[in-house]
Amino acid sequence: MSITHLLKINVAHPQEEMIEQAATIIRGGGLVAFPTETVYGLGADALNETAVQKIFQAKGRPADNPLIVHVSSREMLSRVATDVSEKAEQLIKKFWPGPLTLVLKKCAEVAPTVSCNLPTIAARMPANPIALALIKKADTPIAAPSANRSGRPSPTTAAHVLEDLDGRIEMILDGGATHIGIESTVIDMTGSVPMILRPGWITREAIADVIGDVEQAVSEDELKRSPGTRYRHYSPRARVVLIEQATADELKNRCEELLQQGRVGLLHHTPLAITDANLFAVQLTDSAEDYARRIYAALRDLDERQPQVILIEGISEAGEGAAVMDRLRRAASEIMN
Ligand code: TXA
Ligand code: MG
Repeated sequence: MSITHLLKINVAHPQEEMIEQAATIIRGGGLVAFPTETVYGLGADALNETAVQKIFQAKGRPADNPLIVHVSSREMLSRVATDVSEKAEQLIKKFWPGPLTLVLKKCAEVAPTVSCNLPTIAARMPANPIALALIKKADTPIAAPSANRSGRPSPTTAAHVLEDLDGRIEMILDGGATHIGIESTVIDMTGSVPMILRPGWITREAIADVIGDVEQAVSEDELKRSPGTRYRHYSPRARVVLIEQATADELKNRCEELLQQGRVGLLHHTPLAITDANLFAVQLTDSAEDYARRIYAALRDLDERQPQVILIEGISEAGEGAAVMDRLRRAASEIMN
């Protein structure tokens, strides 16, 4: 379609002329990928229907999976959302800018495709100076899903975006690796009790500390409120097997079994004594920070070795670990306890 321009930009002090170029593309109805604190987003003017449709085409995204709208100020939120409750205001005060997305009642001016004709809109203010400067300069809310081809692991570097979307978008702002590494928490604020539709870095406990009662969507019916959670996600090309918990021996045995069948990619934290030319391992620490920051990049790297199977060792579900385990389960085609 077009040439994709890659601009290396300073994250602490984004160069004004680069922000201006990117904002001009957004205002003209084009697509720009940019870093947020979670993952890279693929942005278009949320008030321009044609521009928003281009996002779905570039990603190959299912037409019933709505996008998150990014704003740079509380005032800008009022251009896309209405009836913002007191609890929603409290969450905004506490967590914005940051990795918390609120589902709110939608304003009429928003391009209908942004939220796939739902009466609601998902919105957040990202905590990345490049993202904030771009939205502010474009002077319009920016719709942006993760900047990967649909079904691929979310991108945490500009190189990942280029891998998936080269020639399909106008520009990538390369602000280095994102520091959280997994997508924002999505919470529906339109019901009587707020409901978490997608776990993320902001935990249920942290939200409950601010607004009291919070539910976690578990049933199919509830999850339908966040259509994106229905799709198999974040998947590399190889078959992915998740071992939620294992002793070093169990992990080693499972690994050796799989090695009988061919190449194995391994993402783990428990030290393992296996040397095998067919084993490609990425060892992380067992912290949620480390897993969140590195899982998507590790899945892409391991996948490049073209293994038969990628074996992933899980981590504790406590705190931010819940969001990490959610993503690992979505990537897996087989789960062992
Ligand atoms: O951290 C993030 O959230 C990243 C960065 C770029 O901001 N974005 C992201 O977007 O992960 P995406 O498109 O990959 O995921 C959007 C999620 C999907 O699960 C979608 O179903 C949900 O938000 N969503 C969007 N609009 C919604 C709505 N009106 N009601 C319920 N869920 C909605
Ligand atoms: Mg995504």
